[in-house]
Amino acid sequence: MSIAGLPEERERWKMSMEADTNMQTQPQAIQIRNLQITPPLLLAPMAGLTHSALRRIMIDFGGVGLLSTEMLSASRLPSENPRISPFLIRTERESPLSYQLLTANEQGIDRAIDQLHAFKADAVDFNMGCPSTSVGKFGAGVKLMERVDAARRIVAEARKRTDLPLSVKIRLGSNTDSGKLKDFCSMLEGEGADMLTVHARFKHESFVRHPRWTYIAEIKECIKIPVIANGGVFSVEDAEKCLRVSGADGLMLGRGAIIRPWLFSEIARTVYGVDIPKPAVSLPDVYAAFIEALKADYRSIYHLGRLKAFTHYFARNYKFGHSLASKVQSSSSVDEARERAETFFANNG
Ligand SMILES: Cc1cc2nc3c(=O)[nH]c(=O)nc-3n(C[C@H](O)[C@H](O)[C@H](O)COP(=O)(O)O)c2cc1C
Repeated sequence: MSIAGLPEERERWKMSMEADTNMQTQPQAIQIRNLQITPPLLLAPMAGLTHSALRRIMIDFGGVGLLSTEMLSASRLPSENPRISPFLIRTERESPLSYQLLTANEQGIDRAIDQLHAFKADAVDFNMGCPSTSVGKFGAGVKLMERVDAARRIVAEARKRTDLPLSVKIRLGSNTDSGKLKDFCSMLEGEGADMLTVHARFKHESFVRHPRWTYIAEIKECIKIPVIANGGVFSVEDAEKCLRVSGADGLMLGRGAIIRPWLFSEIARTVYGVDIPKPAVSLPDVYAAFIEALKADYRSIYHLGRLKAFTHYFARNYKFGHSLASKVQSSSSVDEARERAETFFANNG
């Protein structure tokens, strides 16, 4: 049992930070079943953000080992139309792609998995980490870390239904009892999960708090399946530090890759030695390409909301980014937002 914030944990953190300041070469791939994730850099599922348009911007820069959808309701999935649903639209280039399912129990998993086979999913992920109260009300997301039997049945049912790689994304749970956390992870492995992603924060911790990557090292000691570290990686330096502290087999990038869709390529090149050219990034061009990708994919009702969600993060590339974000936020059409953004770019080059 370790207690966050106590000297013991601070000491462990310090030791792991001092352990090796020279980055070792990282293994370049993870193999789970028939899926090779190379480099082991994964896109985090993010509601309203990890859709086809943004995924394509990322893969154009390169360096992504596994893409992801946002969380998808397992019960609603079979009735969605993949050609028009903004959650499901996907081009052939977006591969490999993991589909994340949100469910509170095993009912309907069979139909959802059949649907994912029809969509040619490359992997299936279960959301057991979302802390939102609306999700928790149904017993889904991180609530499943307390509803251990329900979590067990979900993974067991999925395992029976598919040979696709299965992964689970968790948080650290609701308290500092790392024994309980390790038992949960061992249970997931025992039921047939092929990979685990750990967002290294407790259930109620906000994204502002520094993630507790050392807990991932403890999880790695008790299971054999690959463990992916998630939370707080915004730069190559963060990636190196996170890998060193956690000993994880790979990294999952969320907000960092929305702010800088070329972050995968930078980490792939620097940390994993992947031979990709250094991107020549023009922020206005990335923004324009994103708008074009949205327009190519989606019916117009979906454009503005997704542009606002992206801008909220992308604006952080600028010193006065809050001004860009608020100008786009108050726009009533994509054309108005684009015009305002172009004026901002011209004045903040
Ligand atoms: C806007 C937003 C939407 C998110 N949606 C999901 C989701 O659909 N499924 C999920 O498992 N996690 C979701 N997350 C959590 C991320 O996958 C990730 O765990 C978290 O952002 C920490 O990683 P980061 O520090 O790299 O951003 C979301 C996070 C944000 C900020």
